[in-house]
Amino acid sequence: MTEKKIFIRSTGSYLPEKVLTNKMLKEMVDTTDEWIVSRTGIKERRIALENECTSDLGVKAALKALAGAKILIEEIDLIIVATLSPDYIFPSTACMIQKKLGATCPAFDVGAACSGMLFALSSAKSFIASGQYKNVLVVAAEKVSSFIDYTDRSTCVLFGDGAAAMIVSDKAGFKESLQVGEIVLGSDGQMHKSLEIPAGGSVLSARNSSTTTKDHFLKMDGKVVFKHAIQRMASSIKECLDQSDVSEQQIDYFIPHQANDRIIDALLKRFSIKIDRVHKTLESTGNTCAASIGICLDHYLDQKVKMDQNILLTTFGAGFTWGSMLLKRERQ
Ligand code: ACO
Repeated sequence: MTEKKIFIRSTGSYLPEKVLTNKMLKEMVDTTDEWIVSRTGIKERRIALENECTSDLGVKAALKALAGAKILIEEIDLIIVATLSPDYIFPSTACMIQKKLGATCPAFDVGAACSGMLFALSSAKSFIASGQYKNVLVVAAEKVSSFIDYTDRSTCVLFGDGAAAMIVSDKAGFKESLQVGEIVLGSDGQMHKSLEIPAGGSVLSARNSSTTTKDHFLKMDGKVVFKHAIQRMASSIKECLDQSDVSEQQIDYFIPHQANDRIIDALLKRFSIKIDRVHKTLESTGNTCAASIGICLDHYLDQKVKMDQNILLTTFGAGFTWGSMLLKRERQ
């Protein structure tokens, strides 16, 4: 029996209007544009308004993806949302997006931090392959600024808000779509302390936590995260290419997690992927966590990925979690 083909019919993304530049951060913490650019490659990032929440960003990206696929919300069978900055601990951000889109289908969140988009796409692929659903709306949305301490220079320079969405379907749609290939996922809970928001859950409840230690904000051991991000993304890329029988030289578009230029440079040293095939948005978005690879993919799809071209996406996040995925431009 031939394997059922699964497609990404369309993508959409949304970035809030408000820009936070390195120069503006210099007024807030002891940092410089030179330090931020040389250590990360980030020049500015977008920040959502006070009254704009994660689901609002997700809805804006979802509406673009729905329009791109020329598909009505009534035709969506399932909504999966990836986020590490949800509207609430519960209900899920997926339920908030479902309500705002006027959908009535099932909806749930996946919790895989910055790798959430790939975990959500893998779930969508399986639901469609099993025949349970035909059209799945996958959204990755982050108002991570709500969880950042803007007096902590080691983290506040890194992150930005934004959202991405994709329509995953058993049909290619009215024009060439992206065929979903191999998806490789991984997790290692041993390292959870290296990147976390310590308070607000059942380990350190809002009742017992202290606002002076700022435990409701994102905490990170940058050096540990840096080292593991390179190792884990590199091994998952290799595994994904091996399983797909695609060589490094056959990668036409490489979209790594948009966290840090130096992580991307270190990854490239391990593979013979040409530099002109690497695509980045981090200079103007910062690290938008689960939304990062989706925003980047949406941005570069506009530049006409040609038939039969291979796109490799890879990501890494808290947990630790990681993954890689291969897409190919193809007709049904
Ligand atoms: N401006 C100026 N100085 C700073 C800043 C800043 N914004 N931040 C830290 N420093 C200082 C430190 O205090 C330290 O000073 P000290 O030597 O006097 O103590 C010095 O710079 C060096 O600090 P390091 O932490 O050693 O800097 P490093 O070279 O490791 O770079 C960075 C820090 C950029 C955070 C790096 O570790 C990194 O990129 N880590 C990966 C982070 C990441 O990408 N996380 C996200 C991936 S997972 C996800 O997306 C959720």
